[in-house]
Amino acid sequence: MSSSVQRIEARLQALGIEALPQDGGVLQSAAVWSTEAGQYQTLKIGESTPRSPTDDFLLALNRARADAMVTTGQILRDEPALCFEVGGNLGRDLSDWRKDALGRSQAPWIVVLTRGGHLPWGHPVVASDRTLILTGQEAAVLEPADSSKTIRRAAPGLIDAIAFLRTEKGCETMLIEAGPSTSSVLYQTDDNVDELMLSVYREDRLPPGVGGRAFPSAATLVSAGLHEVSSRSVQEASGLWSFHRWVQRGPGGSEGEE
Ligand SMILES: NC(=O)c1ccc[n+]([C@@H]2O[C@H](COP(=O)([O-])OP(=O)(O)OC[C@H]3O[C@@H](n4cnc5c(N)ncnc54)[C@H](OP(=O)(O)O)[C@@H]3O)[C@@H](O)[C@H]2O)c1
Repeated sequence: MSSSVQRIEARLQALGIEALPQDGGVLQSAAVWSTEAGQYQTLKIGESTPRSPTDDFLLALNRARADAMVTTGQILRDEPALCFEVGGNLGRDLSDWRKDALGRSQAPWIVVLTRGGHLPWGHPVVASDRTLILTGQEAAVLEPADSSKTIRRAAPGLIDAIAFLRTEKGCETMLIEAGPSTSSVLYQTDDNVDELMLSVYREDRLPPGVGGRAFPSAATLVSAGLHEVSSRSVQEASGLWSFHRWVQRGPGGSEGEE
């Protein structure tokens, strides 16, 4: 085992995370705040958002696992500097781990969901040659560059994007990087999400403007077929956080890991 793979696996073990399945299915990473009433509120990503190096690591890890990522026009407009490539101090370790431990050599596909097509065309994510834009039959998507990027679907949406990636691109591990208004559909019925990495900010208050829409409660996650398999609290410079991994129960209620 290479030293990069050893470093990643040691970090996962410290978070209580055992060996990850090679085919992860549908994954989501989410950073939320737990309100006094115990509800989860999605954190809006911006300058005032409390930062967590552990959450950054888990998000980068899931990006390194994925052979496709699904995002939205809204996120690209909100985050002009968003970059899906594995970077930072752990970049080299994660790209080695992706190649050596998961056997993935190609860059992931990126799918951008949009209805209106008002995309920031100069955004590096839109410009990538691995990016596809999924939209409806009638939507006016103006493309300055490459018309082969736009895929028009009869019923576009997150579930349709996952089906498209599975059947048309042969993807096995898809990371959903959509905000709460789009991703809530995943938790409305069971079996849509195979794994959720949930990072919870545990301080009493949030900076103004950082609290976003509600994220599904623990009870909703259970009714979506998920089951918590690891949980760790970590004191970070921004405050106390806890990190939870939920996976889909297999047939008969067992963990659907392998
Ligand atoms: N804390 C976290 O883990 C986390 C993770 C992700 C995002 N966020 C935050 O969440 C916020 C964004 O979330 P949001 O809920 O406002 O927006 P969102 O769900 O990310 O995006 C909504 C947009 O997705 C596109 N879309 C949705 N359904 C579609 C469909 N059926 N067909 C085609 N396009 C569709 C549309 O794009 P167009 O408008 O282009 O038509 C729509 O406006 C940001 O503040 C971001 O920072 C937080």
